[in-house]
Amino acid sequence: MKVRSYVILLTLAGLGGASILALFGWWKFSGLQSATDDLRKEAEKSGAASQEYSDVQALLTSTRDALNAMEVYPKEFKGLFGVVRNSIVYSVAALEKITDEYSSNYKADTLNQLKKEISGVSVALDQMEKLRFSQKGGETSRREHEAARSAFDVSAKDLEISLDWLQNEADSNTKSRKNELDARWLDLEQSRKEARIFSWIAIVLYFGITAFLAWRTYRSLAQPIQSLENAASNSLDEGKPFILAETGPAEIRSLTRRLRVLVHGLEEQVAQRTLALRTKAHQLEEEMMQRKHLETQLVHAQKMEAVGQLAAGIAHEINSPSQFVNDNVMFLKDAINELLAAVSGEGEIPDAKEIEFLRENAPGSAEQALEGMERITTIVKSMKNFAYRDAASEKRPQNLNQAIEATAVVATNEWKYHAELKTDLDPNLPFVPCNIGEINQVVLNLIVNAAHAIRDSESNDGKGLILVSTRLYEQYVVITIQDDGGGIPEHVQGKIFEPFFTTKEVGVGTGQGLAIAHNVITKSHGGHIWFETEQGKGTIFFIRLSLDAPLQSSES
Ligand SMILES: Nc1ncnc2c1ncn2[C@@H]1O[C@H](COP(=O)(O)OP(=O)(O)OP(=O)(O)O)[C@@H](O)[C@H]1O
Ligand SMILES: [Mg+2]
Repeated sequence: MKVRSYVILLTLAGLGGASILALFGWWKFSGLQSATDDLRKEAEKSGAASQEYSDVQALLTSTRDALNAMEVYPKEFKGLFGVVRNSIVYSVAALEKITDEYSSNYKADTLNQLKKEISGVSVALDQMEKLRFSQKGGETSRREHEAARSAFDVSAKDLEISLDWLQNEADSNTKSRKNELDARWLDLEQSRKEARIFSWIAIVLYFGITAFLAWRTYRSLAQPIQSLENAASNSLDEGKPFILAETGPAEIRSLTRRLRVLVHGLEEQVAQRTLALRTKAHQLEEEMMQRKHLETQLVHAQKMEAVGQLAAGIAHEINSPSQFVNDNVMFLKDAINELLAAVSGEGEIPDAKEIEFLRENAPGSAEQALEGMERITTIVKSMKNFAYRDAASEKRPQNLNQAIEATAVVATNEWKYHAELKTDLDPNLPFVPCNIGEINQVVLNLIVNAAHAIRDSESNDGKGLILVSTRLYEQYVVITIQDDGGGIPEHVQGKIFEPFFTTKEVGVGTGQGLAIAHNVITKSHGGHIWFETEQGKGTIFFIRLSLDAPLQSSES
């Protein structure tokens, strides 16, 4: 089935149902309305207020009036016959009207009897009226009067009986008609009630059927669309496979088929691209590792180069103490040999002067020899510290103050002829997470630069000063290397961190010192390096390292 068919079916069901409902309501209620109107009209026509009833009442009243009027005869009869006659005439006319119009509602006997008796009364009345003007007197006249009177009374009595019959019949007619009307009203009310119940049932059925059809349409249209949407979202957003049975109308089944093909195509594309990206990422990762390795190698190579360059100076540094260690040890050796010969009797016993000389100088010589050895040990230890090499990405909590002191010792020969090096190291400095081999190299580069700046400065007559300090600022450690050299000229300030930038003569400087320092601090340690300089006054380099830095390379 197609979507169009569902829509047409639902629309037809809705419209058809509504039309049937309207027709049913119209038929049922218009029938009831006309029955009500008819009944109302009949009710108006019947009952005590009806024309028939009032006509009968008029006949009864006028006839009874006539008979009542005759009750006062013969005491008061002047003009009495005229009144009675008029009433009788009226009664006759009324009876004729009733006979003409409502004879079917009464027994024929009742009306005929009544007619006969009215005429009987009328004849008796004529007789009495005739005797009233008779000239006869005496006993005969009295007897005739009494006979006429009794004939009238008999007729009047019969008439009254008939009148009662008529009244009874009229009352019974009215009553039975009223009962009949009541019954019909009841029937009508019942029909109206039934019509209302039927109407409600029809409305409920209509809405029930429409709701059922709407629900069927929803199941057939909306549900497959919803499932389709869910399957597409699951597949496209969450990467789940597109699994959906083909259900619903033809269009939705076709859409499901096409979407499946599309999503599968997309999935394949995504899989291919993901694979390509993964390969690329892997390549990049390898390249980065290679680069990192090269950078570390570069730093180390520069350090080794520095060690090479510093080697002569360091050899000299070691040479001087070893020289006087040697002199002092020789002096002590000679003295001991002389003493031993004297004690064994093979040599001369030293005089008081010689002994005094030995007492004064031997402990000092031993002290100086030990000091010299200590100096040599310090230099060797510093060399070892300085040349220490961490793995490329390794960062461990390190003692920066100790590292700075070692580097200053290693670089002694670079600064000691032009400057004095002082340190101002924060004794409470916590261990800083870093690659100490790399930091050593940075500090060495900055000390050597400072020494060179002082050496090349024209304003420095005597020795300059290099001040190296460490400070803790909340979560950061700041190292400063300050010199009182000539400062960095303004036009080169923006370039000093560039690789291979140097103002030194070819062969003297390679221009790599600050480039490596920048790389190590910012890239490898996520720190910050900057400087402040003043022409003719000197330069301060700042290095800021975070105590929260992760214990591995920021690049890795
Ligand atoms: N403390 C300083 N005072 C004045 N100028 C400086 C100072 N430090 C560096 N510079 C300037 O910055 C330039 C670059 O320094 P960098 O250390 O990178 O290279 P270099 O010292 O010239 O050579 P290399 O260090 O490779 O032997 C130097 O040539 C110098 O002009
Ligand atoms: Mg340098």
